[in-house]
Amino acid sequence: MGGARGLLQRRIDSFHRDRVTATWAGRRALQGRAPGPSSIILTRNDYLAISGHPHIVEAIERSLGRETAPLMAAPFLRDDHPQTLLEGAFARHLKAAAGVLCQSGWMANAGLIQVIAGPDVPVYLDQRAHASLRTGVQLAGAPLKIFRHNDPAHLAARLERHGPGVVVVDSVYSSHGSRCPLRAFVEVAEEHDSLLVVDESHSVGTHGLRGEGLVAAEGLQERVAFRTVSLSKAVPGRAGLVVCDDPGFVDYFKYEAGPAVFSSALLPHDTALLAAALDLVRREEGRRTRLRELTAWLRPELTALGYELGGGTEQIIALEVGREADVMLLRDLLERHDVFGAVFVPPATSVTRTLLRLSLHAGLTDAQAEQILHACAVVRDEAGMAGWLSTRRPAASGQAT
Ligand SMILES: Cc1ncc(COP(=O)(O)O)c(C=O)c1O
Repeated sequence: MGGARGLLQRRIDSFHRDRVTATWAGRRALQGRAPGPSSIILTRNDYLAISGHPHIVEAIERSLGRETAPLMAAPFLRDDHPQTLLEGAFARHLKAAAGVLCQSGWMANAGLIQVIAGPDVPVYLDQRAHASLRTGVQLAGAPLKIFRHNDPAHLAARLERHGPGVVVVDSVYSSHGSRCPLRAFVEVAEEHDSLLVVDESHSVGTHGLRGEGLVAAEGLQERVAFRTVSLSKAVPGRAGLVVCDDPGFVDYFKYEAGPAVFSSALLPHDTALLAAALDLVRREEGRRTRLRELTAWLRPELTALGYELGGGTEQIIALEVGREADVMLLRDLLERHDVFGAVFVPPATSVTRTLLRLSLHAGLTDAQAEQILHACAVVRDEAGMAGWLSTRRPAASGQAT
């Protein structure tokens, strides 16, 4: 077979030969056994454990009863449309002047970078920032400058060399749960006349008094140009959000960003779910407290067991492993103890620094937390922890998912 079809076939064949057969022993790397009703699921980012909450379910049911799908793109939605009104509610929640909803966090990030960067506006990205931001850089045709994780001095050096642009960080990083020193980045961005974008996907709902996220909790909302949020995490829906302080930006985004102009808006039951979830997020302070308690309890215990947690401090706990086969073995062994974590392999990590990510949630009981620790203690030697370190090389090519 020749031509484009032949080339594609060779790529598919090499995926199956090199990855599925040689590296994963014929299995799908990200799938272990199916969990049962008593399993402890740490693969999802429903941090407040509110998906399926009656308040949300009833809102969806009410909406389905009267739903007529608009099936049109965001620029067609009028100011009194429920999606537009919800944009205002989310903006107020994050203490911003304006907001715009997208179909996913991926689209929010890609669309935002597309419309604020360009060939003469470079994008400075933390090396652990989410992969969707790189897609935005490609859409914008902008030069991409990576700086070392959580290193404002390295960012400053890059800015001095390449000039002002768009600086992008995550408030809490999705791979390791490390927290960004936001104030230091705000200062560097201001000193270099650059726009700061903060992806708050893993802090909205979980951080701040009412879950308004870290930027507002630290009083930095007027100094951060844009915040983006995946609403598939603590807000357990299927959407993305961009907020900012310039109401004029919203129409600009809706008419210029690819995901807004060329893709349909949310469905009415998505909007109903998000509105009910926002309501819960704002009032369920007890769940945030529980999440913090669990994080403060499990992290040091896992470190004491010898696990490398890669500099994380928040509710996402990454066990740094070695190669792909190592992380699959660790996952399988933990699953025998009914503890389910998420495998991270390339392109989300480098080849020698794979991760098993445990996303904590507020619904975990003390007994379940003990069970997680017990399982991690029992499996570590069988999983080959002693050998992991020797296989690891510094992470370079991985992209956060
Ligand atoms: C930091 C971050 N930003 C953006 C996204 C993309 O969000 P979504 O799943 O809503 O497309 C994710 C999801 O994995 C994420 O972790």
